[in-house]
Amino acid sequence: MRTRYSIPTIALHWTMAAAIGAAWLLGQVMEDFARGPDRVAATGAHALVGLAVLALVLPRLLARWLGGAPMAEAGWQGRLASAGHLLLYALMAAVPLAGLAILLSGRAPFPVLGLFEVPPLLAPLGLRKALEGVHEVLANLMVGAIALHVAATLWHALVRRDQVAARMLPFLSRRPPPAAPPATSG
Ligand code: HEM
Ligand code: HEM
Repeated sequence: MRTRYSIPTIALHWTMAAAIGAAWLLGQVMEDFARGPDRVAATGAHALVGLAVLALVLPRLLARWLGGAPMAEAGWQGRLASAGHLLLYALMAAVPLAGLAILLSGRAPFPVLGLFEVPPLLAPLGLRKALEGVHEVLANLMVGAIALHVAATLWHALVRRDQVAARMLPFLSRRPPPAAPPATSG
């Protein structure tokens, strides 16, 4: 039986955790800029990091499917963990898709750091304001779900002291204690 996730799944978990954290921070920073080139550049950086998260969702699901996973815990705790993971996967795709929809709803093409432009394909729908609200609410929901996810990991590592955290953090693996030396007589 597997005791931890496969190396590609672990690598993608942590790369995406870092990218999601960076996208969230850039989301906060860009809101502080007044309208102008600095805000456009910060939004471009935010969009690029966010699109990287979106691009990694499919490879991550493939890695998870092909690489397998440790057995989920039996009972309600295992079911709660699986439901929480499903929610995290859904938000990993939904948050960047809602962000992309905002830029697709702009009045003009949006330049992403001079690398490419997002065309205003959805502009006729007039949904930009509503999509900004959807993106913000989903991003906040994701932050809440991640906070609970990290709290659950800490609970496993520090309170239950089991091997669940080590499935994604293999350096935490505890080796079994060495066998006692055979008793010697005389
Ligand atoms: C995991 C990925 C992402 C996260 C965590 C995230 C998070 C955020 C946050 C926290 C804000 C500030 C919301 C507010 O306080 O009003 C924001 C705004 C924004 N995001 Fe994202 N975002 C992500 C991906 C994307 C992507 C892929 C795009 C575009 C391609 C995008 C486009 C935008 C835009 C245009 C805004 C400004 C909306 C406004 O003016 O209210 N985001 N995002
Ligand atoms: C410091 C931050 C984080 C820590 C300590 C952490 C820790 C862990 C651990 C220990 C597991 C294995 C749980 C198990 O086998 O039951 C796990 C799985 C998972 N994590 Fe995280 N994580 C963090 C951030 C994130 C972020 C930002 C996301 C994405 C939004 C995320 C999404 C997931 C998902 C979807 C799984 C389930 C994998 C599967 O079974 O398919 N994690 N995480």
